Amino acid sequence: MTLKTLALFGLLLALVGCEDTGALTGTDAGLNADAGPAGNRQISYTPEGCAYAVTSPMVAGTAMHADEAGASPAPDHIHVSWAGPSNSTFAVNWRTGYDTMLSQVLYGTDEAAVASADGPGTGVTVQSGHSMVYGTALTFRLHEAHVCGLADGTRYFYKVGGAGHWSEVFDVATAPALASIESFTFAVSGDSRNEPSIWAETQKAINDHAVDFQVFSGDAVILGALQPEWDSFFEAASGDVSVQDVIARTPFMLANGNHDGLATNYLAQFALPQEVTPGERGEGEEWYSFDYANAHFVVLNDTSTSSLIEGAESTWLRDDLMAVDRTTTPWIFVIHHVPPYTCATAHSSDLTLRAAWQPIYDEARVDFVFNGHNHNYERSRPIRGFSTGGTEGQVQATGANGIPVNNSGTVYVVAAGAGAPLYGVDPSTTSYTHIAESVRNYVIVTIENRTMHYTAYRLDGTVLDQFDYTK
Ligand SMILES: [Fe+2]
Repeated sequence: MTLKTLALFGLLLALVGCEDTGALTGTDAGLNADAGPAGNRQISYTPEGCAYAVTSPMVAGTAMHADEAGASPAPDHIHVSWAGPSNSTFAVNWRTGYDTMLSQVLYGTDEAAVASADGPGTGVTVQSGHSMVYGTALTFRLHEAHVCGLADGTRYFYKVGGAGHWSEVFDVATAPALASIESFTFAVSGDSRNEPSIWAETQKAINDHAVDFQVFSGDAVILGALQPEWDSFFEAASGDVSVQDVIARTPFMLANGNHDGLATNYLAQFALPQEVTPGERGEGEEWYSFDYANAHFVVLNDTSTSSLIEGAESTWLRDDLMAVDRTTTPWIFVIHHVPPYTCATAHSSDLTLRAAWQPIYDEARVDFVFNGHNHNYERSRPIRGFSTGGTEGQVQATGANGIPVNNSGTVYVVAAGAGAPLYGVDPSTTSYTHIAESVRNYVIVTIENRTMHYTAYRLDGTVLDQFDYTK
């Protein structure tokens, strides 16, 4: 950062009258702050070594500091995700007391070196991030930092905070090289709202499967603007395993649900890919995609206006899916909250989503769509196209146990109820349902080159649904 840029940033801070003046730790060009409504502002910068920009929500008290340990500097709510390539980056979010502005990550591949370090040194690197305060969270400060330039397929050890005030050491692994055929495992869950104890049980169960990362189909909390709900989400524990124990080690990639409401709290507490496409809200976190080895993941927001769903989001979705090279990336998974196909007795299938997105899924030959919103478990037979003149999906060639034959169609899964009250199911009302059960559940998927090992578990550990699918 040039002196001129630093001076400009200081001037902007003074103009908006924010209390967050002091030593800047911006390590790069592009740092800026803008005054927004009621004195709110946002920060936008390119973290050192990263090839992408980070922009905070428009909130009070955004800052880049690394020199102030307040009265409550102990980090909690620690969790990781990807805002950049899964094979060379990770992002971490955490919380401290309001007056603590230590926003640093210490990391390296040597656990002992990271554990004993109080700052950068041999084998230990420091990365500075930013912090935010907002709304009812004014007694707390939310921190975010991005680590880039990592080696692929490598386990890193890290801790967050700042000199003299570090968290415990966690470990997170980068993905194999893009297009790698190395096997990997991910978990699917959704709708943790209402019951943090069940959410914690779900995370504890997922943790037993040594997953590389998690996808979550939305409705993390009952109302996204209520910070205490998020506090419960992060602080839940089951026996000797806390939610933090799991999501501080497995990148957690989530979709916005109708209860999350794309609230500032949602945007501020998760670092997600921020490529902004026309019409997109939430500083680019509204919808996004990422690659992991030989799979492409798309996360959509379906709690929106129909004009956005049918317009800008569909345009982006089609462009994103058509750019996937299926020779090196044979697998495509889509995650969003509301199901286009369901047999639940609560919410029926969303025909707006079906009409807007299924033709794109069909064209791109999407493999699986994971949804929530209905708190149960369901898996469809392969679907592609519509009945003549109608809106019902055409069930395609179906192999043993309901799986596609030669990629004959897209499978729609509802895997939700990791806390929210269960809803009933009635498979007799549809032509496409292969299996459905009103039960708490989560899904574990292992991809091994062109073979998928799929198991849905009930929360009690029994197997609910299982198949292998090779394409
Ligand atoms: Fe929902």
